[in-house]
Amino acid sequence: MSKKIIIAVDGHSSCGKSTLAKDISRSLGITYIDSGAMYRGVTLLALRNGLINNQQVNTEALLKQIRDCSMDFVSVDGKIHLYLNGEDVERDIRLIEVSDNVSYVARVPEIRQILVEWQQSMGKTKSVVMDGRDIGTVVFPHADVKFFVTATPEVRAQRRFLELESMGEKVWFEQVLDNITRRDSIDQDREASPLRQAEDAYVLDNSYLTREQQLEWALTIIKQKRPDFFI
Ligand code: DC
Repeated sequence: MSKKIIIAVDGHSSCGKSTLAKDISRSLGITYIDSGAMYRGVTLLALRNGLINNQQVNTEALLKQIRDCSMDFVSVDGKIHLYLNGEDVERDIRLIEVSDNVSYVARVPEIRQILVEWQQSMGKTKSVVMDGRDIGTVVFPHADVKFFVTATPEVRAQRRFLELESMGEKVWFEQVLDNITRRDSIDQDREASPLRQAEDAYVLDNSYLTREQQLEWALTIIKQKRPDFFI
């Protein structure tokens, strides 16, 4: 039997889904893909080229840039970094300016179509755990295991605030909370692939769980769904 496994991890902004997905990747020895980094990379491309102003995206010009760009995930000191046209942009894509604009880019159907195709091709021949908003519903509707992660907006804002502070960004907690609640509503209300829970997803509210507890919970489910993968 094939040992290929596809795991989808969806959920709200800054809910810890990437921590869970990375921990699953390490435990199972499979590739981790951060689909949000790809939307952030495209947003950086738009900002650098002046293709987004007042929430309005110059879709046609940006689509051309996207088709001509290269996007790769590269392991740097044990961490996965996004490379855009050969440049390590991992730090830049996490800055608040990108966070503030990414939802406007991610709601454009033509942009999503290109990124979804790239994401699907990454899971064609190898096992992957991918996190995002539409992985279990659109990118891999037949994923072996689907998780939907959430936590209260305040808990998520606090985690993100500490992360930004550790990167040396000067931000207010209220600014981060506002960014998160605004992104939640745009992600949930947009027409193209809105954030929603797949019917067959396992839901995890990790507001009061440790990193170890959420991983243990997820691994138990993966073992139940695909016992053959562990033989
Ligand atoms: O996971 P993240 O917060 O880094 O994602 C950044 C943005 O990209 C988020 O506001 C929603 C969007 N996104 C999306 O629309 N679909 C995905 N599969 C992943 C992210």
